[in-house]
Amino acid sequence: MTVNIAIDGPAGAGKSTVARAAAKELGYIYVDTGALYRAVGVYALKNGIATRDAENIEKMLPGVTVELRFIDGEQQVFLNGENVSGEIRTPEASMAASDVSAIPAVRSFLFDLQRDIARKNNCLMDGRDIGTVVLPDAQVKIFLTASPEIRAKRRYDELIAKGSAVSFDEVLEDLKKRDYNDSHREIAPLKPAENGVIIDTSYLTFEESVSKIIETAKEILDE
Ligand code: DC
Repeated sequence: MTVNIAIDGPAGAGKSTVARAAAKELGYIYVDTGALYRAVGVYALKNGIATRDAENIEKMLPGVTVELRFIDGEQQVFLNGENVSGEIRTPEASMAASDVSAIPAVRSFLFDLQRDIARKNNCLMDGRDIGTVVLPDAQVKIFLTASPEIRAKRRYDELIAKGSAVSFDEVLEDLKKRDYNDSHREIAPLKPAENGVIIDTSYLTFEESVSKIIETAKEILDE
């Protein structure tokens, strides 16, 4: 049986950076499931399909192939054979991902792919519903969070470093809107798993957050 660590939490809690580093240290593959929703969102944007139009999004799905490949241990996301790992990181793609992720057909479309990776690999899988829906039997379930202002500041710094001309208020507003969308949708809303461990990284450094995840996982796995 493989070891599965589920890490869920809101946008900007540090999941992608902190969780990736923790996975590396544990020797597990790191699976960023948000990339899958982003790829579906990007497909809709490219094809002029409104990202909240559940009926048309559902109709487009048979034409969509999303695939994760691990190249040198790094996850790359392919959309209909094309590597879109860079393209899925824009603010438009974030919002599109949040929109399409509320559509049940999109969630079931991506479900098997996620389960399959976890069945075949020791992995640390990051998302919104991994511990609650995708991998309810994961040995370790962590809910990684931080205050909205701190998460927005981290996201803002990342975007500025990439050369984006965003304002902090814009980033904070987007983040709050996404938090609301992600935790109020009817299907698989963002919430801590019942038997999950909550880690608040608001006042932890990057290294402290990584250590906390590793300690928590080791404690549970050693039991
Ligand atoms: O983690 P992220 O910011 O890349 O995720 C993008 C969007 O995808 C997010 O707003 C909610 C959605 N998502 C989801 O619904 N379930 C997941 N397991 C991962 C992401």
